[in-house]
Amino acid sequence: MNAKAGSLPLPEIDIEEFRKVVRTRRSIRRFTDEPIPEAVLEDCLELATLAPNSSNLQPWEFFVVRTPELKAKLAHACLGQNAAKTAAALIVVVARPDSWRAHARQALEDWPEEKLPPIVEKYYRKVAPIHYNQGPLGILGLAKKAAGLAVGMTRPVPRGPYSNCEMKIWATKSTALAAQNLMLALRAHGYDSCPMEGFDEHRVKKLINLSGKGLVTMVLAAGRRAENGVYNRQYRFDQRQMVHYL
Ligand SMILES: Cc1cc2nc3c(=O)[nH]c(=O)nc-3n(C[C@H](O)[C@H](O)[C@H](O)COP(=O)(O)O)c2cc1C
Repeated sequence: MNAKAGSLPLPEIDIEEFRKVVRTRRSIRRFTDEPIPEAVLEDCLELATLAPNSSNLQPWEFFVVRTPELKAKLAHACLGQNAAKTAAALIVVVARPDSWRAHARQALEDWPEEKLPPIVEKYYRKVAPIHYNQGPLGILGLAKKAAGLAVGMTRPVPRGPYSNCEMKIWATKSTALAAQNLMLALRAHGYDSCPMEGFDEHRVKKLINLSGKGLVTMVLAAGRRAENGVYNRQYRFDQRQMVHYL
């Protein structure tokens, strides 16, 4: 999409403050009893949804669980992990590969400028369905893959998503970015988190009444870091192993 946006004046940014947020974020396995204020949670969730996301289709949902009874059940579904058991809030971060059609419609309805740019209208009405509609039993996806293979012999073409399975990856990419924003926002507010994929997805979905097509990307435990909340020193492999300048 190439719609021109009004340019906002950029505020000064202190890299050291950003570095502090990133460097002090740790996966916290024990939290204190302190609740997270409503306003903080709301702000963090708003910042989460400002994450970049594919076609701005925002294929995510967040289920915030704070009531002790449901939290305890959810912690059990998170395999009884300490982070889940001690969290002030558990946030189930869900990817919605099935949301693209409704969100494409909504993007047209909610467009934030008075006049809908024709290129945007074309994108959500025509281009997005070409990319994301996989058709009944994924048959359209297969056709797109075949066409992509043929046309791709002579020029660059998108190589997916070509199946309902690839749509899950599509939605999960954007949702994971939102989860990271959420964790950094919590840290910036002085709170902490632990992303968890150690959970029984079937049970988690049942507890939050999530329909079949939503994917639980992560359950985030959130709260105030306890003194014994960090289990080990943070370390990463040597950058030279992972970063390739070409
Ligand atoms: C997708 C994902 C799933 C994770 N699942 C769990 C989990 O189930 N339980 C847990 O204690 N930590 C979990 N973690 C946290 C990682 O163990 C942690 O990020 C990693 O060890 C690096 O530590 P740090 O986050 O403190 O830098 C997960 C992290 C990610 C990104």
